[in-house]
Amino acid sequence: MHENDFYDDLAGALERSWRLLEEAIGDPTSPVRTPVLISISTDGLAQGRTVVLRGFNRQQRQLTIYTDARSAKVAQLRAQPACTLVAYQPNPMMQLRLSTNAIVNHNNEITHEAWAVMPGPNRCNYLTDPDPGSISGQPTDGRPVINAESVPTNNENKIAYSHFSVIVFTINELEWLYLPRRGHRRAQFIWDEANSLQSDWLIP
Ligand SMILES: Cc1cc2nc3c(=O)[nH]c(=O)nc-3n(C[C@H](O)[C@H](O)[C@H](O)COP(=O)(O)O)c2cc1C
Repeated sequence: MHENDFYDDLAGALERSWRLLEEAIGDPTSPVRTPVLISISTDGLAQGRTVVLRGFNRQQRQLTIYTDARSAKVAQLRAQPACTLVAYQPNPMMQLRLSTNAIVNHNNEITHEAWAVMPGPNRCNYLTDPDPGSISGQPTDGRPVINAESVPTNNENKIAYSHFSVIVFTINELEWLYLPRRGHRRAQFIWDEANSLQSDWLIP
């Protein structure tokens, strides 16, 4: 997409934002594929961490990540589903700030479908014992010993799946920031409950 198509055009800026996300899903080297997810802890403090985007649906404005149901972020998002994802592309410099509503899926059709196509070694990520975030007396990976070809046993597979969660984020606000030398641009897109869109330029 050429810069002229979005530099001074709100609809173009939104299109550029969607493409940034779509391209990132299929490109393991894209920095946009690993945004920072910011949730709120029960004591009201912001908690940020890097996550991998696994899916994006532009019609539904939904992003998907995988995580462990026992992780702190899952408890935080269950208590407070409003959260932010921040993605950054360095070249050219473009930032997306996404205000979203999170739904945690656990042991349902969505997790079942994702699990069915997940390679064995990836499944092992959900086998840490004790729970992720526990204090450990020694430095450890927390998983059973694995290598690139590891496949969980039947019993391990059941345990791993019981920990597996798919979080689906519905975007209700998207803020796009573009920082080329010729002059910066910032735009805000807000969808209401009826999915109608309000688009505005902001001062960068
Ligand atoms: C490059 C990278 C990608 C990551 N991807 C994920 C991910 O997709 N899901 C996840 O739960 N944690 C992921 N993590 C680990 C999280 O950043 C975080 O350390 C962990 O999930 C614990 O967070 P929590 O205690 O706030 O739940 C990733 C970390 C890095 C450095």
